[in-house]
Amino acid sequence: MNTTRIISPSLLSADFSKLQYECEMINRSEAEWLHIDVMDGVFVPNISFGFPVLKAVKKHCAKVIDVHLMIVEPEKYIERFAKAGADVITVHLETLKNPFDTLRAIRDLGVKVGVTINPDIPVSSLCGLVGQVDMVLLMSVFAGYGGQKFIEDTWARIEELKAIVADENPDCLIQVDGGVNTENAPKLFDAGVNVLVAGSAVFNSSDPMETIHRMLHNTI
Ligand code: DX5
Ligand code: ZN
Repeated sequence: MNTTRIISPSLLSADFSKLQYECEMINRSEAEWLHIDVMDGVFVPNISFGFPVLKAVKKHCAKVIDVHLMIVEPEKYIERFAKAGADVITVHLETLKNPFDTLRAIRDLGVKVGVTINPDIPVSSLCGLVGQVDMVLLMSVFAGYGGQKFIEDTWARIEELKAIVADENPDCLIQVDGGVNTENAPKLFDAGVNVLVAGSAVFNSSDPMETIHRMLHNTI
């Protein structure tokens, strides 16, 4: 089992009028990654930001840039996201016409590749694909908005995914995104999750760096 533990704060909940300040805070924090949520208003009922914002973030953020694409036809845009500074690109299985081709195309761009599913997609649909990726993201809310409540069924889905990962690709990272906070983060790491995305819990807290520290080190 992969014992990596990483916090990937989601920029979606940051103060966009102070992007440089927020990036510099993440640089000083124990977060190793920064999560970038790209929404197109088609795959999800919300629109966030795209290449110009990613480029600006890349200029100021020294951490691994973890891009979560909630867009239809992601294969059309992966090259531009890689060029704009993505280090990891994660795509929704629901949006892929040819999963193997798109996952391979992302890998061929020299970035890490992730695949994700919404909470209503069976974990078993990832069987046979886990060997093709560096990371599987289990959504613990329906993609589209920050600040939603963690769906408890995720615990069982993590167990199911762990069995597939052990079987097909033990090095594969498991990421969870949505409703993560200081209370459930240590339990999620203990359950075998490697990368936790946290938006509102980090950026809406009075001390984001301390919140990141607590998520990692289980201190109340
Ligand atoms: C939701 C996004 C998440 C979101 C998480 O569609 O994928 O990354 O920003 O926000 P919180 O941590 O507030 O649930
Ligand atoms: Zn996300």
